[in-house]
Amino acid sequence: MARVALVTGGSRGIGAAVSVALKEAGHQVAANYAGNDQAAKEFSDRTGIPVFKWSVSDFEACQAGVAKVEAELGPVDILVNNAGITRDTSFSKMTIEQWREVMATNLDSLFYMSKCVFDGMKKRSFGRIITIGSINGQKGQFGQTNYAAAKAGASGFTKALALEGARSNITVNVVAPGYIATDMVKAVPQEVLNTKVLPLIPVGRLGEPEEVARAVVFLAGEDAGFVTGSTLSVNGGQYMI
Ligand code: CAA
Repeated sequence: MARVALVTGGSRGIGAAVSVALKEAGHQVAANYAGNDQAAKEFSDRTGIPVFKWSVSDFEACQAGVAKVEAELGPVDILVNNAGITRDTSFSKMTIEQWREVMATNLDSLFYMSKCVFDGMKKRSFGRIITIGSINGQKGQFGQTNYAAAKAGASGFTKALALEGARSNITVNVVAPGYIATDMVKAVPQEVLNTKVLPLIPVGRLGEPEEVARAVVFLAGEDAGFVTGSTLSVNGGQYMI
């Protein structure tokens, strides 16, 4: 069944692949983005997916943005919380701003965005909330106390909200990617990537955004209603829990 899907950070990287895969699965997709107008325009021109600009770290902006999406496309049945940033640095050097920026974009946003759609999902007795977590929220990562905390927080948020949504046919899950070939991973110094990351990936390569998108499409499906509160790892065998 065709549903309205909203993907945050949906015009680049993993989010773009998720937006396209959900569209190919027959859904009407809205892609949110925060900053890069040119990339968003190119993405929209290329895919025909409408883009909507707001910051997911601002609750009022989320409310206004979701209202606009719903006015244009209809009620959101599938929310993919994908927007995320890194501010990597060792803990001793990390500033309060670097901590707060990552918590606001990667964790506060889950509350803001889910808050905007959850009650509507409840009324309609259907919903899918899928959050892009990270291997680094599962195992920790040098230089990412902020990011790992936010991504681990996503897991707790998901399990709690899954309990609250269960009776209304709302599933809430995490897809936890490992190292995927996106701008975020390309920002890791090449030497660190070669010596500290790639050797730890059993399949011997970075993942592709489309490989993460397939997991999201599965969880968004009508037939995934018994999968809730779970974390689906897509990490090439790098970390198994
Ligand atoms: N393990 C152990 N030691 C490390 C290390 C590591 N991974 N990285 C750095 N160190 C060491 C350094 O060699 C250095 O040692 P010395 O003092 O003896 O020279 C010490 O720690 C401090 O290093 P720096 O002063 O260089 O630390 P920094 O504050 O500049 O931070 C860093 C360096 C930014 C953490 C850099 O190592 C880095 O980018 N690491 C990769 C982090 C990473 O994997 N991020 C994931 C991004 S992708 C993503 O987030 C998507 C996803 O979900 C998977």
